[in-house]
Amino acid sequence: MQKKERLEKLLSNLGYGARKDVTYWIRSGWVTVQGEKAKSGAQKVLASEVMLEGKPLDHPNGLTIAYHKPLNTVCSRKEEGRLIYADFPERWLGRKPAISSVGRLDKNTSGLLILTDNGQLNHKITSPKKHISRTYHVELAEALKGDEGLKFSSGTLMLDSEDSPCLPAELTVTGEKTAVIVLHEGRYHQVRRMFGAVGNHVISLQRTHIGALSLASLNLQAGEYQSIEADALLQRIHGENI
Ligand code: URA
Repeated sequence: MQKKERLEKLLSNLGYGARKDVTYWIRSGWVTVQGEKAKSGAQKVLASEVMLEGKPLDHPNGLTIAYHKPLNTVCSRKEEGRLIYADFPERWLGRKPAISSVGRLDKNTSGLLILTDNGQLNHKITSPKKHISRTYHVELAEALKGDEGLKFSSGTLMLDSEDSPCLPAELTVTGEKTAVIVLHEGRYHQVRRMFGAVGNHVISLQRTHIGALSLASLNLQAGEYQSIEADALLQRIHGENI
């Protein structure tokens, strides 16, 4: 449910600018509330009633997106290299609460990534108790030997510097050097390390699904994103048709 809040706080929390900018826009008559020029930054308003320069506000009630992360982009706000945030409007970086990625993909992994400012939603997707799988398409440097599927599904595969084995994962071989792997947990560089543990090397990795939600169904090219309601997203992840 929407609730009223101070106009200046609303606009600054949506990343439009500092409160002093907002005050200036109000004085300049660029902000309307229910079609009338706003009177003051202290005015209590519903976000849906506000327009800035004749346009409705951008996702005033929370922001969740499905994104096709390209290669060579980093899931971070401050690390070196090209950041995923370069693909979104700059204003989003000023939003409070902040948007963040739901888990991470490596710099050299492409594919489906969710970003949200909704902490509960983030938890519902990442919590191990929710049992949401992740599916990856893998290309390998060496031909598959044939025993990898059994090793991955055994529940005994140990990765370097870990003290518990990987949960069983399902491998489907799709070619001499290609496969699809479904994971039920998320460890650091997990797919690359699992293939490393069986003497191979991943040369290309793409996440194709989070639960039942597929990158293909979203029809997003690398670098593109689509906003999606939290409930609709969860239904698609859980494979419920909407
Ligand atoms: N496994 C990896 O090795 N990298 C990722 O980005 C995701 C899973």
